[in-house]
Amino acid sequence: MRFHIMTLFPDIFNSYMSESIMKRAIEKGKIEVFIYNIRDFSNSKHKKVDDYPFGGGAGMVMTPQPIYDTYKHIIDTHGINNPRVIYLTPKGKVHSQSIAQEFSTEEDIILLCGHYEGIDQRIIDLIVTDEISIGDYVLTGGELPALILIDSISRLIPGVLSQNESFEEESFKDNLLEYPHYTRPREFMGLEVPDVLLSGNHKNVDNWRHEQSIKITKERRPDLYKKACK
Ligand code: ADE
Repeated sequence: MRFHIMTLFPDIFNSYMSESIMKRAIEKGKIEVFIYNIRDFSNSKHKKVDDYPFGGGAGMVMTPQPIYDTYKHIIDTHGINNPRVIYLTPKGKVHSQSIAQEFSTEEDIILLCGHYEGIDQRIIDLIVTDEISIGDYVLTGGELPALILIDSISRLIPGVLSQNESFEEESFKDNLLEYPHYTRPREFMGLEVPDVLLSGNHKNVDNWRHEQSIKITKERRPDLYKKACK
């Protein structure tokens, strides 16, 4: 899978992509990440990328030309037809595991990171296929949301996680949150590991974990619990 990121702040992505599982996924050739600085595509003398909003009001709006030309450059250089173009915005559909799953089957994904008050609506009308929010709060830009999308999608691509890190047994599988984990030592600050996990009885361990998942989901996320019971 190839991720193409359109941003005004390319440096934000480099350090995240050169650590841990993302780094390994790139080295293994499971994902490729291309970063484009929208400012490089501005036709204006001073590489301007924003302007005052028509109709007045506070803040600046990202102008359409540099974004459109970045997009054209991406699809022309990589020979991409009808790509998913995801604009990160608090106005979008709220991100979820099932959305990550849907995107994980694409060959190319273009991510558009907004700044200031937003981007010119005509860019959304012309090239954006999906508007995605990472939650009901407002950030200063779309870069962190883009990283969250890339991370949540990449780990679903076959071969990105090792068997050990497998995503088979985790939160949101069957709409249940994950059970608690314990490792050594057996006792820490007076708190003991539950006996069942030391019993060696796999069936009892599985049952305990499933019960814990149900209990935690019911307490913390009644909305998911309802879905899990369906
Ligand atoms: N840009 C600013 N806030 C955002 C959010 N919550 N989700 C996606 N993009 C954003």
